[in-house]
Amino acid sequence: MSSEQPYQNFLDNNPYPRALKSYDFLPHHGSAVYLNYQGKKLINFSSSDYLGLATHPLLIERSQQYVQTLGVGSTASRLVSGNFSLYDALEKKIALAMKKPAALILGAGYQANTSVLEALLDPAILKQRALVFCDRLCHASLLATTRFVADVKRFQHNDLIHLATLLKKYAPDTRPKFIIVESIYSMDGDEVDFNALILLAKKYHAFLYVDDAHAVGMAGRLGYGKAPDYAADIDMIMGTFSKALGSFGAYIACSEIMRDYLINKCKGFIYSTGPSPAVLGAMDAALELVPAMQEARLRVVDYAARLRAFLRENNLDHGASQTHIVPWIIGDTEKTLAISVLLQEQGILGTPIRPPSVPVGKSRIRFCLTAAHSEEDIRHLLEVLRSVIHLNIKNNN
Ligand SMILES: Cc1ncc(COP(=O)(O)O)c(C=O)c1O
Repeated sequence: MSSEQPYQNFLDNNPYPRALKSYDFLPHHGSAVYLNYQGKKLINFSSSDYLGLATHPLLIERSQQYVQTLGVGSTASRLVSGNFSLYDALEKKIALAMKKPAALILGAGYQANTSVLEALLDPAILKQRALVFCDRLCHASLLATTRFVADVKRFQHNDLIHLATLLKKYAPDTRPKFIIVESIYSMDGDEVDFNALILLAKKYHAFLYVDDAHAVGMAGRLGYGKAPDYAADIDMIMGTFSKALGSFGAYIACSEIMRDYLINKCKGFIYSTGPSPAVLGAMDAALELVPAMQEARLRVVDYAARLRAFLRENNLDHGASQTHIVPWIIGDTEKTLAISVLLQEQGILGTPIRPPSVPVGKSRIRFCLTAAHSEEDIRHLLEVLRSVIHLNIKNNN
């Protein structure tokens, strides 16, 4: 048997194989919203560039400035020799924005969650395996290492009564307790109830870890996410620069002690080259722009409300979405794939999301509304959806 046989077997038995498609920007548009796919114009409704910052002139300019000064690489792990003073300045700005005493930049959101949680839950440090209470729909990165180092109890999605029941059941257990949630769930666009969650975390002395990836830039008093508005009661905030903030990378906002601990223990920080100066420039500019983008956020709120209203009026399921992420939950994977093709034929990029990214029977087209969409784009989306529905494709659920 060839050494690649097991992998070939997996590919052969995968009913819905994933494949990369390559898109180009549509010439002269200068926006990530309008794509050219094999000669066809597509309006991208599957992008996480919620504020349109990926092509914003200030991010591009600052990124170029940093590259001019420092080159394109940080040349080493920050603990070795790759720690430019720009990192320190930026981390101070992040800490201020997220209302925590300190912050640390990491390579990517996935890397941040996997390596920070591995360090946070390290049984050698805690002298025992921690008990982790994690929402059933938490992103894969929140569980990837967690499940190996801690005992994980998953509660029903956004069901804080279920969480309370589990916390009560394990109250006599003296092991350290952690609660892991997202503030806005990536595939459902619904939000956690922070007030109730914080009461529970306090009552059961649980460490609260919040992934604010889909909220930063889009929610909160100054637009820096939902978590900063509750920062005093959240132990650790994780967020990304890769979604509404337009570029790449992640941050952890926490206490000085926890930052020092991560610098000493987080393998994804210690054993990884610091992000490129190009990315640092884009991060810096995005942080500067976000508070003044309230008009853009309100426009996205309006787009999302109109899409949800349309789906409801047509008896289509948008789940519990309350934000800029609006899923059309179709259920059947085959049907979801077919609808995605129909949308694409009419110029709408709505990527199908299927298991394991979502539970079996919950395949969907996940629409992301962004400030880079125009009124005309939204009207076109609704028109195309109307025509697809008229093709007599009914919702499964
Ligand atoms: C909730 C959540 N956390 C973390 C990540 C990972 O972030 P990144 O894309 O920066 O690796 C994602 C991205 O899909 C996400 O949705």
